[in-house]
Amino acid sequence: MQIDIISVVPGLLESPFAHSIMKRANDKGLLQVNVINLRDHTTYSRAQVDDYPFGGGAGMVMMIEPLVNAIESLQAKTTYDEIIFLTPDGKTFDQKMANQLSLQQNLLLICGHYKGIDQRVRDHFITKEISIGDYVLSGGELAAAVLTDAIGRLLPGVLNDETSALSDSFQDNLLAPPVYSRPETFRGWKVPEVLLSGNHKLIDNWRHDQSVLRTQERRPDLLQED
Ligand code: ADE
Repeated sequence: MQIDIISVVPGLLESPFAHSIMKRANDKGLLQVNVINLRDHTTYSRAQVDDYPFGGGAGMVMMIEPLVNAIESLQAKTTYDEIIFLTPDGKTFDQKMANQLSLQQNLLLICGHYKGIDQRVRDHFITKEISIGDYVLSGGELAAAVLTDAIGRLLPGVLNDETSALSDSFQDNLLAPPVYSRPETFRGWKVPEVLLSGNHKLIDNWRHDQSVLRTQERRPDLLQED
């Protein structure tokens, strides 16, 4: 899978993909992330990419020309399944969306800044608008990193144990059960007996019950979903 990300602050996206699971995905050739500096695509002086909004008001707007230059130069090399704008007024990202997007080949993510991007880019190029939650970040980069991570870890072969993504919270609309490791007792706090029993059927049942309990307590809304 290839994920291209257009940004005015490409440095913000250096670290998230250079470590751990995302690095492994890249090293194994399963996920290629390319960060494109929007300023390399402007024809305005001093690498300008933003301008005052027509009609006045506070804040700047990301101009149409550099964005379209960047998008079209990328489209000349790659056919994108989705062109996604990260924005707080987009559809809220969830595991289901991550699952669906992980089935695509090529994604282009566009990170907004300032007051947003010229609406004409949204009207004519963007195929999906996604928010990572009801709060406003100073730019779309962290949101793009969240999306890329959530999608990338689902690609076959990225996680060591392929089943481990299936047992994540939110797969099946259930939160994950509690987990324990050594030692069996720490300061008198014991690991639940059933986990030491070696009886996998009992352990699976216990984990499922714990998932349901946790979901009922913390996220009853998930149990209403289809
Ligand atoms: N850009 C700024 N805030 C954002 C959010 N919550 N989700 C996605 N992109 C954003």
